Amino acid sequence: MSTHQPIIIGHRGAAGVAPENTLRSFAVAFEQGAEGIELDVHLTKDGEIVVCHDGTLDRTTNGTGLICEKNWDEIKELDAGSWFSDAFIGERVPLLREVFEMVPRGFLINVEVKYAYEGRMEKALLAFLRESGRMEDVVISSFDHKVIKRIKLAEPEVKVGLLYAANLIDHAAYAQQIGVEVHSLHPQHHHFEKEDGVSAAEAGLATYPWTVNVVRDFQKMIDAGVTGIITDFPAKLNELLKGE
Ligand code: G3P
Ligand code: CA
Repeated sequence: MSTHQPIIIGHRGAAGVAPENTLRSFAVAFEQGAEGIELDVHLTKDGEIVVCHDGTLDRTTNGTGLICEKNWDEIKELDAGSWFSDAFIGERVPLLREVFEMVPRGFLINVEVKYAYEGRMEKALLAFLRESGRMEDVVISSFDHKVIKRIKLAEPEVKVGLLYAANLIDHAAYAQQIGVEVHSLHPQHHHFEKEDGVSAAEAGLATYPWTVNVVRDFQKMIDAGVTGIITDFPAKLNELLKGE
């Protein structure tokens, strides 16, 4: 068994116990021992970066329609908690800036870019990060590896990670042929074995598998020596790590 302890990264905050991608969900993740959070971003019609998984408002708010067709003034009035439970009525869709304000310095913020919005997202995100002074704390990930490459080429200081759900022959080799320096691998955990963790570590890559929610899978990722584990249930992972 590995003696390495991965950090706990709250998926969309603590999405198993609180409404995903809300300030409350991020606060719960930290209360439950997370040292990092994962979140998803979209652009509003007026260019604000909001934290929401879907490109539409329907599933996680009392609004409807595409985020990119609404201004922030409309989105900020929506309820993003009542769909989860009445205990969370009044939670809102946060701006990325609001999340940064509540995350302690030194804690990891993994920002997942869901859509490129014709290149407007990367421009807005990089402008925001440069102004934030928090570049060190941030890893930008995406399933769109062309976006990741463009972001790294535009801003060499930013750390970038590759999201994927494929059973790759050689995870580290894939990262090395992207053409820019990749900070981290973000594999779907079912497709990540101990030997993949070993070769990633040898290649100097951080590893953040997702979305790991049960003890058997936590243990498999711990034994693979991963850098951090993205989970909907930070408390459950914290309990296991403390017990070791
Ligand atoms: O970043 C890991 C994970 O969040 C990717 O999938 O659908 O939960 O955004 P999804
Ligand atoms: Ca995500």
